[in-house]
Amino acid sequence: MDEDRIVSSDVQDDDEQSVEKSLRPTTLDQYIGQDQIKHELRVYIEAAKKRQEALDHVLLYGPPGLGKTTLAMVIANEMEVQIRTTSGPAIEKPGDLVALLNELQPGDVLFIDEIHRLPKLVEEMLYSAMEDYFIDIVVGQGPTAHPIHFPLPPFTLIGATTRAGVLSAPLRDRFGIVEHMEYYTEEDLSEIVKRSADIFDTQIKPEGAHEIASRSRGTPRIANRLLKRVRDFAQVAEKDSIDQPIVDHSLKLLRVDNRGLDETDKKVLETMIELYHGGPVGIGTIAANIGEEKDTISEMYEPYLLQIGFLKRTPRGRMVTYEAYQHLGLESEFKEK
Ligand SMILES: Nc1ncnc2c1ncn2[C@@H]1O[C@H](COP(=O)(O)OP(=O)(O)OP(=O)(O)O)[C@@H](O)[C@H]1O
Ligand SMILES: [Mg+2]
Repeated sequence: MDEDRIVSSDVQDDDEQSVEKSLRPTTLDQYIGQDQIKHELRVYIEAAKKRQEALDHVLLYGPPGLGKTTLAMVIANEMEVQIRTTSGPAIEKPGDLVALLNELQPGDVLFIDEIHRLPKLVEEMLYSAMEDYFIDIVVGQGPTAHPIHFPLPPFTLIGATTRAGVLSAPLRDRFGIVEHMEYYTEEDLSEIVKRSADIFDTQIKPEGAHEIASRSRGTPRIANRLLKRVRDFAQVAEKDSIDQPIVDHSLKLLRVDNRGLDETDKKVLETMIELYHGGPVGIGTIAANIGEEKDTISEMYEPYLLQIGFLKRTPRGRMVTYEAYQHLGLESEFKEK
């Protein structure tokens, strides 16, 4: 997987991680976009606080970089409780989960990122923890083995996943609040870029912010990353503020086009057009042809191409749409099927 892909929605290094921390909104008011989700959460949070109860368990799902971790932190902050964060693969055995749960105070949030990757035994232990705030653990071995009933304080589990489809039904059903995160609109991304520029103490023109937004694949993480790179170009060019031309210039050099597509996205589309007349073709075949993993294509490239209507799914495979042919300047090769 090309880790340095500038339009990748994954975190790329420690430096990016620390930048993200500084850019994270801490309240629902500062959290831009996702209005429907914010509206619902405001109600649930206020109600839980009035009843002095823990907030119901929350499942957040959606593509990487849309702000799931950020939202989990915002929720804890709004609930005025502590948050402990971990991830599915980090909880290797039931004992690890016990240790985490043991440290919770009443009302606290336990955030489990990549919750679809929890080991089965740990997941099963979560069922009673979520439903009735207890766990039963077996201590000792053989004839001396005996269960210990372990009561827990009321707490809120927030789970995040990029793949809700692979969560088991018993786990999914134990979340009272299930929110699907959507790709952000260009207007919301513009606001995010302006807010981040402000935090970086960088001047940016509205057209500059909008240009970055329109190339960010609906994803705040990418918007912030592009902003950082463009800021470097602006600095070297001794521009006192980021305008549309400097964004255009920088992103051309970085090979991010005006829809946020990079070379690999284009290779996917062009391969489908040149070798398969635009499809239908299976994702595995596409991956093999361009030398990428099938999962990489289906998790990192395909969702955005589907989202902007450059690809469509059919029962016989993926197809390139007329809009994509147009974008690539290949209209003349398009054949109606
Ligand atoms: N609604 C938002 N308003 C402002 N900034 C945001 C918003 N959502 C995300 N961000 C910014 O985008 C960055 C990425 O967000 P975050 O780490 O929460 O994504 P994520 O969905 O948890 O991604 P992953 O799936 O990779 O864990 C954060 O640094 C944050 O600054
Ligand atoms: Mg995250």
